[in-house]
Amino acid sequence: MKLRVGVIISLQWLVSTTIVTGGEGFALSTSSPVVTSRQTTSHEIESVYAAKTISSFDKYKKIHAESIKDPEKYWGDLAKTELDWITPFDDDKILQGDLIKGDVRWFAGGKLNACYNALDRHNPDDLAVIFEGDEPDDIRKITYGEMVDKVSSISNALKAKGVKKGDVVTIYMPMIPELAMTMLACARIGAVHSVVFAGFSAEALASRVLAASCEVVVTADHGLRGGRKLDLKSIVNSAMDIVESTNKDLVKNVLVWERDYKDDSTEEVPYEMKEKDVRMDFLVADQRPFCAPEPMDAEDTLFILYTSGSTGQPKGVVHTTGGYSLYAAQTTKNTFDLAPGDVFACVADCGWITGHTYVVYGSLLNGCTTFMFESTPVYPDEGRYWDMIERHKITQFYTAPTAIRLLMKYGNKALAKYDLSSLKVLGSVGEPINPEAWRWYYEEVGKSEVTVVDTYWQTETGGHIVTNLPGITPMKPGSCTYPCYGIDTVVLDPTNGNIVEPDENGCVEGVLAIRQPWPGIARTCLGDHSRYLTVYLKPYKGYYFTGDSVRRDAEGNHFITGRVDDVINVSGHRIGTAEVESALVLHPAVAQAAVVGKPHDIKGQGICAFCMLKNGYEESPELIQELRLKVRTEVGAFCTPDMIVIAPTLPMTRSGKIMRRILRKIVCGETDTLGDTSTLADPAIVDTIIEKVESL
Ligand code: WTA
Repeated sequence: MKLRVGVIISLQWLVSTTIVTGGEGFALSTSSPVVTSRQTTSHEIESVYAAKTISSFDKYKKIHAESIKDPEKYWGDLAKTELDWITPFDDDKILQGDLIKGDVRWFAGGKLNACYNALDRHNPDDLAVIFEGDEPDDIRKITYGEMVDKVSSISNALKAKGVKKGDVVTIYMPMIPELAMTMLACARIGAVHSVVFAGFSAEALASRVLAASCEVVVTADHGLRGGRKLDLKSIVNSAMDIVESTNKDLVKNVLVWERDYKDDSTEEVPYEMKEKDVRMDFLVADQRPFCAPEPMDAEDTLFILYTSGSTGQPKGVVHTTGGYSLYAAQTTKNTFDLAPGDVFACVADCGWITGHTYVVYGSLLNGCTTFMFESTPVYPDEGRYWDMIERHKITQFYTAPTAIRLLMKYGNKALAKYDLSSLKVLGSVGEPINPEAWRWYYEEVGKSEVTVVDTYWQTETGGHIVTNLPGITPMKPGSCTYPCYGIDTVVLDPTNGNIVEPDENGCVEGVLAIRQPWPGIARTCLGDHSRYLTVYLKPYKGYYFTGDSVRRDAEGNHFITGRVDDVINVSGHRIGTAEVESALVLHPAVAQAAVVGKPHDIKGQGICAFCMLKNGYEESPELIQELRLKVRTEVGAFCTPDMIVIAPTLPMTRSGKIMRRILRKIVCGETDTLGDTSTLADPAIVDTIIEKVESL
């Protein structure tokens, strides 16, 4: 069977096994510096949490309770041991603001540089990055010392092109080391990076460049994936045409890395050069490899990352220099039980938050070796991940349930060929992992000896907020288990906002919210603080609202049961249904569109689009193809609908609101629990749509 790559999940699961692996020494060396060789600073005060080795669930509970009771003490101590500060923060001003006013600040007044913390303070001879490209023999190994030099040169190149502190730089690149280096160079000079996943279309890229008023775009001529060349430069060209048609002089320079650049490259340009294009490799080669890191306030923006919500345009989620860096460093260390010399492999793309926090910042802030991967799990064959683990002696491996389910379908033959004994922790992220996939990951990949961490978090949380910890808290297939240190989760009743009381079994069900700020919380949405307040803080006063529903069992294990808004999760990609709908209605034939998630074996959810046509248009295979193409060009290929249903009309209330709930039930085959349809303007439409869906 030929399986397509690039798929994901989201399921309901409930299994009650509890497993703990890891041992005493393997446990939480929480705050003791991981990097033996890094410079010791006067700020390296042993925190109370570092003094002891904590290896039991009871101790987790104790530390968790303390971190909630006195967050300033907990995070203040860690900020001193985990990060190097140029100007120390004031001990009386560790946390200011609150979730009611939406003005949270951590360590404000303290000055530091995230790039310095991620690179300069580590042993220059240690390996910072192992890169493996699309072809397994395309390998680059880069030390911390080399990273400092190269990132400094890139910083100077950015400066030479006019980038200043506070400017937003959009990065649209394949997963090559230069992507991480460009992000870090922005951090070094105080510019704000905005990485746009290189699967987004020209339209989507253009709208993000315009929204951030971005003057410099960094890209590469092409990327490689599964043996195919991705012509990124052409997409950027089209995006720049769109940007120029709205704001002619906005983008001043497009800096283009060359995927095949070698030091002795000929002068021949491997792409069609436009007026604003600059050959980045050549520009960087001409720079001095020294650039003093810019002192940044802890509250200065480190980066923005666009993410999808229920409605409208994607939001530019803002993360800060101090709080985000601390939270990234701390969660990487705790969740993955990092130790000196570890080779940490997070195979996410830097276009998403997982790549930001766990490929780039979290791992490098801890001084371990981070692994960057450009290809797919099944290229050149389904043994690719296992082969990489064996060859690079990877110690932590972090992927999404969609990839696990895909590989599980291939069986264990490929797996059996490789020695995976270097593994210490296996991670899962992005969506609930169904127990079947969890067991395969744990038993077959981890040989029942390696802890599986199911990490629940979001772009807005900066890092993990609920996860089990190796050797410390128990694993439970299908559950992300317990809140991280400093995270005060509550389950609220969506109807009245009250904290849900446990039922007779001690379980609670409702929406997941967080009661107090943590350093990694996003501070605002770029240029739209009111939207930030409306989406995250106003729904339940005094709480951060995750947008997820949850069940918590009597032992305190959290089971995420799906989004309560119109966000779907396809192959690990967070997609706002509104974005796909807006793309569809741009087609002249479409009068109205409604998009819902449809369960999918591997992808978790697939996209199902219902369209009502304008008068004079007829359903045809060609039209369906055109609609698919419309979504690809407006948003990106990863949002292409799996199923398009042309309906005479959509189920709407008398006031004209589309009842997506009914469509969701229909595509899930739950037609016997449709609920009350009497409020629909035309209840008969439901049967027509059911018939249509069943006939497809
Ligand atoms: C979902 C990705 C269950 C959830 C890091 C969340 C999960 C959304 C898990 C955020 C998990 C992420 N178990 N659901 N372990 N991890 N999710 O912003 O619905 O791309 O709200 O961040 O993914 O997606 P985002």
